[in-house]
Amino acid sequence: MLPRCAFSVCHVLMLVLCLSAAEDFDWTKNDHGSFYYGTFPAGFSWGAGSSAYQTEGAWDKDGKGLSIWDVFSHKKGKIQQNETGDSSCEGYYKVKDDVSLMKELKLNHYRFSISWPRLLPTGIKSDHINEKGMQHYDQLIDHLLENKITPIVTLYHWDLPQVLQEKYGGWQNISMVNHFNEFANLCFERFGNRVKYWITFNNPWSVAVEGYETGEHAPGLKLRGTGAYRAAHHIIKAHAKVWHTYDTQWRAKQKGLVGISLSGDWGEPVDISNQKDIEAAERYVQFYLGWFATPIFHGDYPQVMKDFIGRKSVQQGLGTSRLPTFSPQEKSYIKGTCDFLGVGHFTTRYITQKNNPSSRSSSSYFSDRDLAELVDPRWPDPGSEWLYSVPWGFRRLLNFIKTQYGNPMIYVTENGVSEKMLCTELCDDWRIQYYKDYINEMLKAIKDGVNVKGYTAWSLLDKFEWDEGYSERFGLYYVDFRNKNKPRYPKASVQFYKRIISSNGFPNQREVRARTVTTKSCFSEGFLLELHMEMVTEIVVPTVCTLSILLSAIFLMFLLRRRN
Ligand code: NOJ
Repeated sequence: MLPRCAFSVCHVLMLVLCLSAAEDFDWTKNDHGSFYYGTFPAGFSWGAGSSAYQTEGAWDKDGKGLSIWDVFSHKKGKIQQNETGDSSCEGYYKVKDDVSLMKELKLNHYRFSISWPRLLPTGIKSDHINEKGMQHYDQLIDHLLENKITPIVTLYHWDLPQVLQEKYGGWQNISMVNHFNEFANLCFERFGNRVKYWITFNNPWSVAVEGYETGEHAPGLKLRGTGAYRAAHHIIKAHAKVWHTYDTQWRAKQKGLVGISLSGDWGEPVDISNQKDIEAAERYVQFYLGWFATPIFHGDYPQVMKDFIGRKSVQQGLGTSRLPTFSPQEKSYIKGTCDFLGVGHFTTRYITQKNNPSSRSSSSYFSDRDLAELVDPRWPDPGSEWLYSVPWGFRRLLNFIKTQYGNPMIYVTENGVSEKMLCTELCDDWRIQYYKDYINEMLKAIKDGVNVKGYTAWSLLDKFEWDEGYSERFGLYYVDFRNKNKPRYPKASVQFYKRIISSNGFPNQREVRARTVTTKSCFSEGFLLELHMEMVTEIVVPTVCTLSILLSAIFLMFLLRRRN
């Protein structure tokens, strides 16, 4: 009989084997925990992002026209504490300071957006071009390039010129397609010699759903069941038109790329053995990211959206579906209009099937999906109410994009986490943890074969967080909004992100540990505990294991000798 000690040695060995086997990832399995050490492909681009209305301030300066967000935020009761983006981070006046912060981080790219009404105060090119607005973006682009930071420019991050809203109803009206195309064309003409990455729309899901369905965002319309679909339809057409404009008029000369930035939460079935939950989770993702990605990559809306909205529209006694349709010509015009896909991702939901009544009065984008969203109460949610940290969902979403859309070139255009206003600590260890885990899942996705070329931390600075005002802070840099000068202070995550950038990922365990130790002044007990756990699995377990094997060998030899 083998001595007891040999059993425990085998047990330890089994455990160690299991631990190392878990590094061999299969995204279809539920191995959510393990950390993957490794680096990103050479040339991987690291960046941080912002958007015009959220950071620029100077809302009525130097000839800028009003945007729908200027008007919306000035209405009482729309934004937490009735705050506005009037001055925000004063980014308009702080180009040099902010580029220095990016340099300090050693960023490869910076993602920002151009305010349409700053260039075209009424939104219409033939009315008036505001040269002072042009100069601002010229200065920003030049300064970035002088510092070897690649500009990634979003043309529409939600700040539609107010005149276009008042005159035409904004994205409810097809005329936006041409106005947006004129604006984009002007940007290509004036900045395209220096800008090589263009994003037409940022997160059109939010524009459509929150702007025209729930009314939580500007322009604040509540056109339930139709408004979001109509807005999205025009946005998709506008995106395609701008892509074609670039393709036919500028690409040969400027050699840039035009993409779109789509947001998407991951949806995981509550019960992975229940077909209804599996379908509901797939529907969740199709109604979110697939709503825009499927027309752009395949020419039409996801079949499941056509089926569900179509069926419910009939049940509601409507002659046609509330989801608009594309003509065959439009389908082929829209299909393939994406040189790279921008992905904004923050969180995940568990999804289960739930039938919603199809009455006309209760029709909405949300009830069309026939599902319920759940969260695991153990998921950390340090900041925004909706933002739970579920890193493994990121890898799944990226793999979903790879399989559904033919492995497109991806730039992660937004990923990050907020903290509540009252938490003014610069020691944002939970953000470090979030970045570490999400970036690690992105690395695993790249190992799975997903074509991710760059990552944009959201966001460079604390800033105006839409209907939440300044109550949620996403920044790597803390901004003191009470001080007129809006000073910026680095949070601990700056050092952490900087190290990820300089080592292009997570080269090896010891190096990561060395890094975490250098920033220890900031870490909470929770983080130190994790460090201790890493040491237990990396040093203590193998050492104990080796010693046990040696001891049992000696013991066996001793027994054998005694028998002889
Ligand atoms: C997506 C939006 O594009 C961005 O502006 C916002 O700050 C983040 N979500 C976080 O809410």
